[in-house]
Amino acid sequence: MAWVLTIDGPAGAGKSSVARRLARRLNVRYLDTGAIYRALALSLDRRGVAPAETEELRRALRTISVELRGERVLVNGEDVSDAIRTPHVDGIVSAYSALGCLREALLDLQRDQERYGPLVAEGRDVGSVVFPEAPLKFFMTASPEARARRRYLELQRRGEAVSFEDILSRIRERDRIDSSREIAPLRCPEGAVLVDTSDMTEDEVLEHLERHVRDVLERKRGAP
Ligand code: DC
Repeated sequence: MAWVLTIDGPAGAGKSSVARRLARRLNVRYLDTGAIYRALALSLDRRGVAPAETEELRRALRTISVELRGERVLVNGEDVSDAIRTPHVDGIVSAYSALGCLREALLDLQRDQERYGPLVAEGRDVGSVVFPEAPLKFFMTASPEARARRRYLELQRRGEAVSFEDILSRIRERDRIDSSREIAPLRCPEGAVLVDTSDMTEDEVLEHLERHVRDVLERKRGAP
């Protein structure tokens, strides 16, 4: 039976690597919904279409096709998997993803993924809006400071000169936009297990989630 496991939470809570590793351990597919929002934002930005509910944007949406190939994301055939991971896209994506018409346009693509078998889906509203019936839901969070620290260390490792204060204020700003938007705001979905990762290592988070998932799947199997 195909089941969906959802992981929602704010930027920098460590969702992506945990979701990817969990999917691998469970031998199921991984759906990174943030990548889809990033791809669409990048494409609209390149065309000079501002993040507002305008006819221009609606028209542009009709001509952009986002496609997933394994863990790669394509826009009108172009692989943008690397181009979507830049500070520029980090900065523009929240404004685009607050738009109702854009979210609506991406719903089918996300829901469609369930057809191909069990799935670990990760994002901001996958447990609340995209897959409300999912039997397994997590909400992963961490303090803004803990998230900024991780991002700071990651960028330092890559040799990028960054200021911790700057990262912290960007994280706060993204949290503000993602949680206060009218449509599908970031919140812990009903029935989700809350995991605060502030003082946990990635391995500890992964162990915690995997134990929970295996317990639930085991119980379901044993149920009459
Ligand atoms: O997880 P991420 O940082 O790659 O997500 C990029 C942006 O996409 C983030 O600012 C919020 C938005 N997003 C969303 O609104 N809903 C989702 N399900 C996933 C991401």
